[in-house]
Amino acid sequence: MAVRPVLKMGDPLLFEVARPVERFDTPELRALLVDMHDTMMALNGAGLAAPQIGVSLQVVVFGLEHNPRYPQAEQVPYTVLINPELEPLGDDMEEGWEGCLSVPGMRGLVPRFKRLRYRGYDSLGQPIERSVEGFHARVVQHEVDHLRGILYPMRIRDLRNFGFNETLFPGQGLADD
Ligand code: NI
Repeated sequence: MAVRPVLKMGDPLLFEVARPVERFDTPELRALLVDMHDTMMALNGAGLAAPQIGVSLQVVVFGLEHNPRYPQAEQVPYTVLINPELEPLGDDMEEGWEGCLSVPGMRGLVPRFKRLRYRGYDSLGQPIERSVEGFHARVVQHEVDHLRGILYPMRIRDLRNFGFNETLFPGQGLADD
């Protein structure tokens, strides 16, 4: 297990479409999931996608308890989601501030579907299906975008709503991610 370096925006691997996982419950997949967990926790991330540590596979992890990078956010259980599919529930969108470990020190206002159903598999290949809304839905959309080669700045409608943490949110301690 290890904290791995996180690729930053500009790295071409972040713009690739990730491959689906074909075999579950393998030593390689287990090792990848441990590294993703350790890296996300060490950096106080709300989520991490495998391409962010240089592995172009459809694997994301996310979850949020008391996270200093997202002090106001609701809690989301720690989840491993493999080969995910998203289905928006309704047309409602909402804007919310997002950050990303691949875009350190910045935040942007990003429109996302308010409610959605997600399906995929856990590390053993057991199916997962959840209907979620709000911050949980936002985190899943952000992470699954990483598997499609999309970073959140590409979804900002008005780039005036994209900036540095210490300028947008002074004194909130968000500067050093
Ligand atoms: Ni991200």
